[in-house]
Amino acid sequence: MTENAENAENAENGGSTGVVEPYDVVDVIRTKRDGGALEDGQIDWVIDAYTRGVVAEEQMAALAMAIYLRGMERGEIARWTHAMIDSGERMNFDALSKRTTDKHSTGGVGDKITLPLAPLVASYGVAVPQLSGRGLGHTGGTLDKLEAIPGWRADLTGAEMMAQLEDAGAVICAAGSGLAPADKKLYALRDVTGTVEAIPLIASSIMSKKIAEGTAALTLDVKTGAGAFMKDEADARELARTMVELGTDAGVHTVALLTDMSAPLGRTAGNGLEVRESLEVLAGGGPADIVELTCALAREMLAAAGVHDADVEAALADGRAMDTWRAMISAQGGDVDAPLPVAKHVEEFRASQDGVVTGLDAMGVGVAAWRLGAGRSRPGEAVQAAAGVELAAHIGDVVKAGDVLARLHTDTPERMGRAVEAIEGSWTLAEPGTAVPERRIVLDRIG
Ligand code: URA
Repeated sequence: MTENAENAENAENGGSTGVVEPYDVVDVIRTKRDGGALEDGQIDWVIDAYTRGVVAEEQMAALAMAIYLRGMERGEIARWTHAMIDSGERMNFDALSKRTTDKHSTGGVGDKITLPLAPLVASYGVAVPQLSGRGLGHTGGTLDKLEAIPGWRADLTGAEMMAQLEDAGAVICAAGSGLAPADKKLYALRDVTGTVEAIPLIASSIMSKKIAEGTAALTLDVKTGAGAFMKDEADARELARTMVELGTDAGVHTVALLTDMSAPLGRTAGNGLEVRESLEVLAGGGPADIVELTCALAREMLAAAGVHDADVEAALADGRAMDTWRAMISAQGGDVDAPLPVAKHVEEFRASQDGVVTGLDAMGVGVAAWRLGAGRSRPGEAVQAAAGVELAAHIGDVVKAGDVLARLHTDTPERMGRAVEAIEGSWTLAEPGTAVPERRIVLDRIG
């Protein structure tokens, strides 16, 4: 395309700035389409021009698809990540009296780990700044879960966040719109163009936000299995390695745990239901898989902040983590003693035969919770605080025909039918007496 033609097109798109652009976006797309590596200048420009509206959505969609199909070299991913960081502001926690340590999960079904983890780690006197998101599709969002607590608010000013980190030690709040705005735009575009599952794009998306956030240390929970973005373990490993390299090169102490997401974590999927289960963990109980992963991540986060050999199980059992939870939730307006919302309709889903549960499909459970009203189909939609799935039978449990496998919660009973369609077939039942291999939650550590 000639420069004149492109400027005319930019004007049509409402994005013309009158500036002569140094690159031709069609050349950039063709380079990647044909398997070439993008130059640093091309990457810097295309991210900046996309953020300014000069590169049109359809052009960025074509480039994202070319990246999905052709991949990127390590140097390209690093440059792309930094260009996205430079599209917005950077936060800085240098003024805090505590060391910062954060975690990020690539997302899964029943993944409420942030809720007990942030206060648990903060109870050791380190600061945990958790900028979190909302759910889209079958995976839940931490902010949606916490909004099930009456009064709790997700939006904090920078000053409120700093004050809470000094006092309570942990903050879970929404990322401001100024942090990596290029990623916000690009993520929304990828979501509707089948280009989410590209390792260079996922790694740069997550790490641009985490590096811009300014944490000193980062522990990544990279999930693999049916309920994860990366279904295949080799892909999840590559994603983990890529993110660890990006963080380390940017001066952030970064490690990753590779963890199992073939089955849901814990026994609940849905906002208020997951808060209730997290409270059980903070009270020293809760499902073993949630406790195991929370403690494994806590040890990594604490070690990265210089706290070694912490007895994190004791901090859950003796109420220290619960005290920090109460301080953290109250500081954001949440009523820690208020009852959690209860769904207007609850239906039981029952086993049609005897057996021992050898598998439980995370995707089926996640989609059912979403259809019951726990998740949204488009950004901005309201979610139901009480909707979701409560699992009565998980891997290793023995059931008889007619036993309850799950309770489905919703305020809108017309959603039940589609939720049942999603969840039936999620349990794999073997002959009673069949040995069930122990489920490993943490598969590997990378970093
Ligand atoms: N989470 C993100 O923030 N970005 C991705 O691309 C995928 C998951």
